[in-house]
Amino acid sequence: MRAVLLGGTTGIGRAIARQLAERGESVFLMGLDDDDLARSAADLTARHPRGEKVGYARCNLEQPDGFAAALDAADAALGDFDAVVVTAAMFATQEALEADVELTRRLVTVNYANTVVFCEHARKRLLPRKGRLTVFSSVAGDRGRKPVAIYGSSKGGVAVYLEALDHKFHAAGLSVLCVKPGFVKTGMTAGLKPPPFAGEPEQVARDVIRAMDRRQALLYTPGIWRLVMMVIRMLPRFVMRKIGF
Ligand SMILES: NC(=O)c1ccc[n+]([C@@H]2O[C@H](COP(=O)([O-])OP(=O)(O)OC[C@H]3O[C@@H](n4cnc5c(N)ncnc54)[C@H](OP(=O)(O)O)[C@@H]3O)[C@@H](O)[C@H]2O)c1
Repeated sequence: MRAVLLGGTTGIGRAIARQLAERGESVFLMGLDDDDLARSAADLTARHPRGEKVGYARCNLEQPDGFAAALDAADAALGDFDAVVVTAAMFATQEALEADVELTRRLVTVNYANTVVFCEHARKRLLPRKGRLTVFSSVAGDRGRKPVAIYGSSKGGVAVYLEALDHKFHAAGLSVLCVKPGFVKTGMTAGLKPPPFAGEPEQVARDVIRAMDRRQALLYTPGIWRLVMMVIRMLPRFVMRKIGF
């Protein structure tokens, strides 16, 4: 695999980058901060069995004008990448988002509109290479839910886009994987009370890489969330109005 990771310096993205590097895949990092990127790239080079140098480029999901140049840098470093993994996203509580419309605008732009724009740039390159596009949605996008009304809607939009990409391009050889994690203990959820079945980033990363290897289209991880969300998706509206979930 020659994999580009947007968001690979922290949390689940970092765990995926480490596991890919440790098994000898070529990786390239994209993210917000040069120092974080340089530190993470050096860490991955040290973990790679052949000490392969890991390159990086700055890429900010709030600045779509930079997407093509960042992907050009990845192509140059890897010799045409064949996998893209997008874990980068914003999170804020429903309370914070309701209090700040500008924060809402930024979050839905980063998590939905600009994520789709980034994926469109990636898809054009991956399609002729019969590559793999892996993007993180969330169980929060499966139903309109009170505690994650705005964040969840951004993740639901991404999931519908990815499902359509799979329908449209599967026959042409593009593998699109939509990842729907439940609660995972990372910087994003620091300060939130972990619910039952909270996952660890390393376990989620193992599930994601296995699903990429199998060219799967949809992954709930940790796996129990597939069953939990099956039940939640069946709840009628009058129940969803009453419960706090
Ligand atoms: N943790 C969970 O419980 C959970 C549950 C469901 C879905 N997810 C999804 O899983 C993915 C990974 O999340 P995580 O838990 O691993 O959290 P994380 O460590 O906070 O990862 C999010 C990453 O996005 C980056 N980012 C934020 N804004 C960006 C921007 N404008 N441009 C480029 N990068 C940006 C962050 O960079 P900085 O650190 O430099 O800000 C960080 O590296 C996310 O898509 C998240 O929505 C997480």
